[in-house]
Amino acid sequence: MRCVDTLSEAELRGKRVLVRSDFNLPLGNDGKVSDTFRVRQGWKTIAYLAARGARVIVISHIGRDPGESIKPVADAMKRFGPVVFVPDLTGAMAQDAVAHLKDGEIMLLENLRHDERETKNVPALSRELAALADLYVDDAFAAAHRAHASIVGVPALLPHYAGLLMRDEVAAIGAARSPQAPSVALLGGAKFETKSPLIKLLLEHYGHLFIAGALANDIFKARGLPVGRSLVSQELPDISILEHPHLLVPVDVTTETPDGQARVKRPEEVTDRDKIVDIGPDTVAMLATHLLHAKFILWNGPTGLYERGYTHYTEAVAVLVAESDATKVIGGGDTIAALEHANVPKEKLGFLSTGGGAMLEYLLQGTLPGIDALA
Ligand code: 3PG
Repeated sequence: MRCVDTLSEAELRGKRVLVRSDFNLPLGNDGKVSDTFRVRQGWKTIAYLAARGARVIVISHIGRDPGESIKPVADAMKRFGPVVFVPDLTGAMAQDAVAHLKDGEIMLLENLRHDERETKNVPALSRELAALADLYVDDAFAAAHRAHASIVGVPALLPHYAGLLMRDEVAAIGAARSPQAPSVALLGGAKFETKSPLIKLLLEHYGHLFIAGALANDIFKARGLPVGRSLVSQELPDISILEHPHLLVPVDVTTETPDGQARVKRPEEVTDRDKIVDIGPDTVAMLATHLLHAKFILWNGPTGLYERGYTHYTEAVAVLVAESDATKVIGGGDTIAALEHANVPKEKLGFLSTGGGAMLEYLLQGTLPGIDALA
């Protein structure tokens, strides 16, 4: 994988560079982008190219509804620098706009998923996209697990490079596959059936794997503990996970009754009326010892139902992570969103990945379709 920073300024000036970013951003009720983290991280590649006189054509998907426009993302990008939005992908309007693009200018084309050939990886779309540019730069680490036309089709047709963010993501998450000891991995979220292979891998490579969120409910249930109305997965962990010496689970949990009363309990005290919504203070204390002595910390997934306002313990864990001198890699959309609101200096949290599913898949596989395509 060759990074775009290996090209000289002379090789970039005046060149039409197609940058595949992942600016799949959440929108608020007002239709505006509610979180610009991915733009902030991806802007360095765009700015790097523009500063060297490249004509920068940014492409990205947003959402899964083919009718959704990416225009709100262009508005968010304008907070970082001048961007022209073109409401077309590969048609006459897009071709004309690209032909008039000047050195150092930046444009964003319409949502890639407006064209159903994108997710089906139809070669004709890859050819149309490639025809817009001289070079291709893939900076969309967060979408690199998707074998879509703009990710695996276009690089086969143009000289291709990794963007600066892609390079940094691959290095940071690659390092998390063989962490320095003592190491701690924190994994939250739900759907045990999809995370089970990763859990097994992390148990093998990390000194401790702490499981929180709905995944912890699955462990409680498999151990015969009561989980009340809590979210549980269809498949439960097997004995190789349950009895693994590296496994850590919450020693106390925050529960909520149907009338919204929250209480901290031992897992064995959970009743039929309770829903487990987060970890508790004793669990944070247990984690403190491990986190403060760790040399490497990997974290994906909030500790509880972050979207329902249970952010307190995720933030308490963030404070501990920030205090640790370990190398840290943190990812997952919800985790990053939770940390945005936590009162901890971001620069103390280590590497913040833009990847959600891509991060988990890269940890598991050690590569992704979008990375293979840059070989
Ligand atoms: C993400 O947000 O995880 C990526 O942009 C991939 O989006 P997708 O799951 O809709 O393909």
